[in-house]
This record gives sequence, C-alpha cells and structure tokens, in this order.
Amino acid sequence: MSDIGRRGFLVRTGLTLSAAVLAGAQPRASAEQATSSSRLKSWEDLRAQFPLSPQLIHLAAFFLASHPTPVREAIERHRAGLDTDPIGYWFEHEEKQEAQVLQAAAEYLGGNPTDIALTDSTTMGLGLLYGGLQLRSGQEILTTTHDHYSTETALRLRAERTGAMVRQIHLYRSTKTVSRDEIVDSLRKGITTMTRIVAVTWVHSSTGLKLPIHEMALAIQTINRSREERDRIIFCVDGVHALGVEDFRVSELGCDFLIAGTHKWMFGPRGTGLVWGHPKAWPIARATIPTFSSQAYDLWMENKSSKDLPPSVHMTPGGFHSFEHRWALGEAFTFHQTIGKSKVMQRIYELNQQLKQGLAAMPHVTLHTPVSQDLSAGIVCFEVAGMAPRTVVEKFRRRGIVGSVTPYATKYVRLAPCLINSPKEIETTLAEIRNLRAS
Ligand SMILES: Cc1ncc(COP(=O)(O)O)c(C=O)c1O
Repeated sequence: MSDIGRRGFLVRTGLTLSAAVLAGAQPRASAEQATSSSRLKSWEDLRAQFPLSPQLIHLAAFFLASHPTPVREAIERHRAGLDTDPIGYWFEHEEKQEAQVLQAAAEYLGGNPTDIALTDSTTMGLGLLYGGLQLRSGQEILTTTHDHYSTETALRLRAERTGAMVRQIHLYRSTKTVSRDEIVDSLRKGITTMTRIVAVTWVHSSTGLKLPIHEMALAIQTINRSREERDRIIFCVDGVHALGVEDFRVSELGCDFLIAGTHKWMFGPRGTGLVWGHPKAWPIARATIPTFSSQAYDLWMENKSSKDLPPSVHMTPGGFHSFEHRWALGEAFTFHQTIGKSKVMQRIYELNQQLKQGLAAMPHVTLHTPVSQDLSAGIVCFEVAGMAPRTVVEKFRRRGIVGSVTPYATKYVRLAPCLINSPKEIETTLAEIRNLRAS
C-alpha cells in the first residue's frame, strides 16, 4: 500500500484499525509468552536471561536496565530490519508494533491502550505532563519535599514559564516514625481549595520509602466529592520504582496519572517509558511536542482537526524514535507477565526484607528505609557509622558489589535487590557490611 493510500486507509478506519491490529497482536504475544515460560523455570533461569557480569553482585540494576534475552532479541530483529530498509521496514511495522506495545502495556497495567502515551523516560513523561496540565487562575500544584529531581525541576520550569503556583509540603517528619496514617493526614491537611494538581512519587529514591498511594487516592476522592469537575484534584504519581515491583492495576489504584520509565525495574529497552492517564483526567493534559501518530498526521495532511483523537495520542511525542528500542518494549511486559506480577513482588520483597533485617541488626549501620513492606518496596537506604556513603559504595565495588549513592542533597548508601539477585548474594553483601569499619 502506498504512503498516501495507507494513511488514508488508517484515517477512514480510525481506531477500528487499531483494534484489529491489537487483536492480531495477541496470538504472537502468547507464542512469545510460551517461549519465555519454557526459558523461565527458576530464578537461576531468569538470571541467565541477562548478560550482566557474573563477577559482580548487581544491587543497582534498577538504575538502568540490562536487557533480558527476549528484549535483546527483539531489538536486534528490529535493528536489522531498519538497517536493511529503513522506510520499508518502518511503513510495514510502525502501526502494528506501536499497537502491540500499547496492548502489552495495557494488559500489564490493567488499563486501556488508548489511555497510554509512550515516552522515552520518566523524566520526559513528567516534563510533558507537568508542563502542559491546564490550570485556571488561582489553582495551584501541590507537591512534596521528597520528590526526585525530575518532578521538582519539571514543576519549577512550569512555574517559571507560566507563573503557575507550586507549593511543597512534608508528608512525614522522619522515616523512623513514619506511618501510613501520618502520610495521608499530612496530604489531607496540605490540600486547600486552590489545589488542583497533587504531584508525588510512589517510591522515594532518596530513602526507599513507599507512599500509600491507594489510601492517598481515597482521601483525595473524598475531598473531590464536594467539588465540581473543573476543580477536581488530579492526582499524579511518578511510579517508576513501583512499576515492575508492586502488584497493582491502574484501574484500582485510584490515581489520575501514572508516569514511569520502563527501563528500570521493568527491564524494558533503555530509552522507553509511558504515561497512563484515567480517561476522565486526560483532557486536562495539553501536548507540547507534535505527535507522529499516523492518525494525527493524516488528518493534518487533509487540513482536518485531530482534536477528537484520544489525548494520549497527542501526548505521545513524535518525531522519529530509536524504533528498535520502542518496538521491543512489549517483550518486557510479556517477560514480567510470564513470571507473574505477584511472584515478582513477593521475590523482591523477600530479598529486600532479608537485606533490611540484616542491616537493622548491625550496630554500626543506620537504616533509613522503613522495615515494614507497607512503607517500602525494592530500595534500601542506609549509612555506615563514620563512613561517607561514597566511600562505602567504592569499597563495595572493589569487593564486587555494585551499589549507588542516593543522588539527593542528603546522601545515603542505596542497594536495591531485584529479580536477578539471590538470597546468597544478599548474605554475601551483609557479610561485607558487617566487616566494614571506619579506618
Ligand atoms: C523517583 C525517580 N523519578 C524519575 C527518575 C528518572 O527516571 P528516567 O531516567 O526514566 O527519566 C528517577 C531516577 O533516575 C527516579 O529515582
């Protein structure tokens, strides 16, 4: 089919085509799932999917994903196709592959493909969303003092560019005494009649603290009951350290927007991410970067408005991307689904509990992450008496253990046991920490 012909066909069939493509995508995903399950019978099998150095204990794998075999193979397949015939391969695969990725993401998230925008990272999603959320005069964005650089900077840039009011609150006094009630209560007290947007981070990469997002959403829903739609509080969550860890469905979580990179815990291709939005919340988002959705582009070529396309389409930024990475993202969702979301969460929790309980028993260690799994996920932060976090991480490296220092004003040692780790590796790490003494 020629360029124009194909585009015309897409416009005429609209979302129906997407539905047909999505339906066609499923048998292939199932076949891949079958292949993957035969590869994944044990945690050792899972570890073997990653070309990570066997000489190292990787406890910072969440920072940037190593690609597991199915993701790597898909990237190589698309790369070869694009290198051989870039325009031919693109026309043949673009619509189908994007639909397949959206379908896999939607199945994993428990949402709808038309509610998902694809991005290149958490930061891109946060920047585009917070930069474009519509506010009326007198409405403010409420955020916290616990968020990552990307949330804080996206909101600051928004405020500088448009004069939007941004206010920060503390959600708790100390990670030693924090409770779910304290967090929900602080949020409730922080909200005023001016608050239109609430912007938080599900799992803080500064301390490992996990917010009770569902309870926070319920508190917001209660306040919203007495508000008109145009004043309803829109609850936005940076979920990058929960996606691929927590067993949740967006349809039940209660937030309005979930923003995440898929190149950390999800093991998706580096340079991928998404924004999920509730259908009632999406209309508040205004796009900044022109989408390259063929539907929008075709309408433009016909001098027609694309305003009736789903907002998530407009919020998926164009031009051309590193398509071999973007189109391989579906494999990462399938990989996780093959293991099972609850098994993934249970394994990450077990390894993190082992690490936290070991650390809590050491007199020369101050653990900053709550031990309770209700308030923590897959990140563990701590200090060793008399030693700078950087020194600890460097010593670890020399002993073959890969950790990181929290990239915040207050710095801690950060270890993040994940699916590729074993209880034995955690034991070895704890033994090293027991032997650490300030020199
Ligand atoms: C809480 C949080 N949000 C956002 C980011 C940025 O993620 P990305 O690299 O996907 O933009 C990070 C870490 O890199 C993070 O810890």
